[in-house]
Order: sequence, then C-alpha cells, then structure tokens
Amino acid sequence: MTARQTRVIDDVNEAAAILRSGGLVAFPTETVFGLGVDATNDEAIEKLFWAKGRPSDNPLIVHLADLNQWELVASTLPPVARELLEQFAPGPLTTVVPKQTSISMQVTAGLKTVGLRIPDHELARSLIRAAGIPVAAPSANRSGKPSGTTWQTVLEDLDGRIDAVVRGQTCAIGIESTVVDCVSHPPRMLRPGAISLQQLRSVVPDVEALHPSEPSDAAMASPGIRHPHYQPHAMITLVENSHEAERLIQQRAGEGDEADRWYATSAYCGLDDGTRPMRFGMIRQFENLADYARGLYEFMRSVDRQGLSNLYCQRPAATHADSQLYAALLDRLERAASPKG
Ligand code: TXA
Ligand code: MG
Repeated sequence: MTARQTRVIDDVNEAAAILRSGGLVAFPTETVFGLGVDATNDEAIEKLFWAKGRPSDNPLIVHLADLNQWELVASTLPPVARELLEQFAPGPLTTVVPKQTSISMQVTAGLKTVGLRIPDHELARSLIRAAGIPVAAPSANRSGKPSGTTWQTVLEDLDGRIDAVVRGQTCAIGIESTVVDCVSHPPRMLRPGAISLQQLRSVVPDVEALHPSEPSDAAMASPGIRHPHYQPHAMITLVENSHEAERLIQQRAGEGDEADRWYATSAYCGLDDGTRPMRFGMIRQFENLADYARGLYEFMRSVDRQGLSNLYCQRPAATHADSQLYAALLDRLERAASPKG
C-alpha cells in the first residue's frame, strides 16, 4: 500500500499519468496544496484516506479544469451553483451539488452530494486537463494539521505515503476554499473562504452562513466540520494584540526566570499594528489580512519545527470586518485555538 518514495516532479504530463493509474499526487492550487486522486477509483481513494489518516466520514472535493466538464461530477447543476460558478470559477469556491453516479461513494462519504471546485491555478488546471478525469483532492496534509501551502511542507507530512508532489510556488491565498451547499434551501455557506458571504450574496442574495451555534446542523450538512482542523502541536491562544499576550504570560509566570522560560517557548503572530513585541521565541507580524491568511499555516508549522509550545495569535479586530478574508481567517484561527479533539 505504501508509496515507497515520493517524487518531486515538474512535468504535468508525468503527474497526470500517475493520477490516471491510481496514484496519489499532491499539487498546488491558489488556496492550499491538494492531494489528488482519481475520483472514480475506489482503491486509490482508500489509499488516500490512509495516507492522510483521514476519517472516512469526511467527504472530498472534486476538482475540474473547466466548468463545461461539470457532468463528470454532478448529475445536475442547480441554478444557484451555476450562477455562483459562472461568477467565481475558476476560483476559491466549492459548490455542493448532486453527485454523478460515477463519482465514488468513498469520495462523498456516502452522501448523495459532492463538492465541485475549479481551481484558479494554471498548473492545477493543466494537470486535471491532462489527466482527463475528475480529481478528488483534500488538502495535502496529515488529517487535523494545518493545510500545506508549500511543496516542502507537503513532503514533511506525506513523504513515503504518496507517489509524487508537483513542485509549485507558495499558495497565493493560503486558506481553503469557501464551501457552499447549493442543494439546501436556502443555500448555505458551510465553510468561509476567500470568496466572502457578501460576494456570494451579490450573486445569490439568500445564501445563509451556517451558524456556529448550530453545531449538530453543521455536522450533518458537512461532516468534515466536526473533526478537529488546522491545529499545530503548539497550543494556540487568541489575543487582541501582543500586549494582551504579554499580560497573560505575566499572569502565569510573573516577571523572573519563569517568565523568561515562558517567552522562550512561545511565539507571537498577528498584524503589524505598530506594536513591537520583543521577548517571544518567534515573532511574525503580517502586513495585512491577505498576508496573514497566506502565512498563517506555514508560521504554525515553523513554530512546531522550532519545538515551541505556545503560539499567541492576534485575532483581527472588528475594524477589518469588511475585508474579504476576515471571516475565513477568524474561522481558521478559532478552530486552531479550539480544544484539541
Ligand atoms: O481550497 C480547498 O478547498 C482545498 C483545495 C485542495 O481545493 N481543499 C480542501 O479540501 O480544503 P478538504 O478535504 O480539506 O476540505 C473539504 C471540505 C470539508 O470540510 C468537507 O466536509 C466539505 O469540504 N465537503 C466536501 N464534500 C462535501 C459534501 N458533499 N457536502 C458537504 N460538505 C462537503
Ligand atoms: Mg483539509
């Protein structure tokens, strides 16, 4: 079952051939790296769940090169899905639509619906086009960890477990696509992403956000939501700014050696808000929300690589609420900081 050695490749045709023959190939998209597999090949899909250590009740998104190919994935395209895809595809949007019979039940975790996405990434789309098959691809990371946004990080998690990774640049967006259930009435946003609720509503005015206070609803609509996500080893605490992180450390460790030890094993990241945190073992201040989203997962991973135990992350202030990435970034930060499952 084990892919003995994972190859790093540049040739899209070579990668496509591996996919067609039932192999596992990680590839870059504009959101995060995906771990691709033929969405019609049960045996290959089983390997993928094993490689990620992913619970089998968490469905996969199927990727196409072009909207014209939708019939490979969906039995019908509900008008809401068509309108959203016509506006936002290719792009960081996944529509949940009725599944085509040829799509494996393992892909959809037994659901009658399937997630459909057309990535806005030339390399990804040429790969899918060359493979000529619908490509199921979850994020290319071990289950529960932050998604991989560089090919090196993909290897760190999956080396020896997958056949190949297509070399590519760091993902431009850095957090996963917006997922919209286009089968429910009204349509519901199941996962916030770089396409904001406001943008969705500019096309389909009655889209609802799935409310976090309806966890059972959420779990039913999108099984993936109930699993722990995006968590590094380090314990994450959300703070208003670096001063709050410093206050929390002082409360726990006072001012002496104990505080020095605490700082040495702690990291801080947030927006560059003019504060200059000094004492943390690692510090990262991002220029804006887009930068924060792009760099967050990789920073979490570098904190783990350095063996630090605590990561204080700035929760972006509500003054950023109009920004396109605000809801998605807040969602990922809150999940990362939620108690480990
Ligand atoms: O940006 C992305 O979406 C990336 C790239 C690789 O395309 N993929 C990604 O896949 O984030 P993954 O497997 O990590 O997350 C897929 C999410 C899960 O929360 C899953 O529950 C939901 O999509 N999902 C997939 N199919 C679904 C369906 N039929 N109904 C409801 N939710 C679904
Ligand atoms: Mg994932």
